Amino acid sequence: MRIFISGIAGFLGSHLADNFIKEGHKVVGCDSLIGGEIDNVPSEAEFYQYDCCYRNSMLKITKNCDLVFHTAATAYEGLSVFSPHLIAQNIVTGSVALFSAAIENNVKRIVFCSSMARYGTNKTPFKENFKPNPQDPYGIAKVAAENILKNLCETHGVEYVIAVPHNIIGPRQKYDDPYRNVVSIMINLMLQNRQPIIYGDGNQKRCFSYIDDDLYCLKKMAFSDKVVGEIINIGPDEEFISINTLANKLSNHLRFNLNPTYVKGRPKEVLNATCSADKARKILGYKTRTSLDDGLKKMISFIKKKGTKKFRYHLDLEIINELTPKTWKDRLF
Ligand SMILES: NC(=O)c1ccc[n+]([C@@H]2O[C@H](COP(=O)([O-])OP(=O)(O)OC[C@H]3O[C@@H](n4cnc5c(N)ncnc54)[C@H](O)[C@@H]3O)[C@@H](O)[C@H]2O)c1
Repeated sequence: MRIFISGIAGFLGSHLADNFIKEGHKVVGCDSLIGGEIDNVPSEAEFYQYDCCYRNSMLKITKNCDLVFHTAATAYEGLSVFSPHLIAQNIVTGSVALFSAAIENNVKRIVFCSSMARYGTNKTPFKENFKPNPQDPYGIAKVAAENILKNLCETHGVEYVIAVPHNIIGPRQKYDDPYRNVVSIMINLMLQNRQPIIYGDGNQKRCFSYIDDDLYCLKKMAFSDKVVGEIINIGPDEEFISINTLANKLSNHLRFNLNPTYVKGRPKEVLNATCSADKARKILGYKTRTSLDDGLKKMISFIKKKGTKKFRYHLDLEIINELTPKTWKDRLF
């Protein structure tokens, strides 16, 4: 198969590319490098440094592809209320430009990576049949892209699948990005002997998943007949922990003397967010193979091996006011 992966220089996109190449598929991919790293792109892949927002470029590079795996996104949920134009452009415009080009080029299937942000303040654990209730421009943009994908695919007879990954950790995840990835940020700080900064009281809860457990399911979403037209949460529902517990676990693994700094909570942050894995277990045979502690230890080893990094404030804050977290406004990391 000839498989197109958008966001191929990113965390998920590059791992998917490696896996598909290993299985003998031809992989073509694009990335604007706004959030990814060129070193992540496998050398066997045909790579284009293109932005998904440009439909003509997408039309050119999705030619003769059988499958599109759309992972490209500015996956910045907390930032999205302060940089809504950046987020909406890369998620709504970027997705629609790619979907339009792929459908014009007669791809058989499009797999779209959505986000748990689609569920917003629904009760936990989030199930796929819940009515979306996104609380921020990131989640709203993901739901808009989902709806347009569904509409276009139903109209033009193209298969589609919506994957809902959540809080994945693992090698290649960016850890110098001050706007996202709480586990990586905390490890990068603690390894520099710096205290983590926690938004709000730290009692907000999440489930974290290790990349290998998710890849297995995401790959199945590319080929299985059972998933067509489905929305499926990808990730564990077993260890639902608070950010305070996360900080404690990491400090124990790192033998770090923890005394976090607490700052004002971020506007629109959903306090309790976790997804049910029932549907993934049933349709995709999902199983959590890596425990949370093992995943955290692997993440620590990855960052230790690569070396700590200075945080890079590489994105513009569009709206700066009294609600904008100091971590970003005053560059506290
Ligand atoms: N990793 C997670 O925990 C998680 C959770 C929920 C949803 N997701 C979704 O899964 C997908 C992949 O996430 P990830 O963690 O690999 O993120 P990532 O930032 O590592 O990868 C995304 C890649 O997309 C690229 N990109 C962004 N906008 C682009 C554009 N307009 N044109 C071309 N390339 C562009 C970035 O440069 C980056 O390399 C995203 O859609 C994200 O919203 C991820």
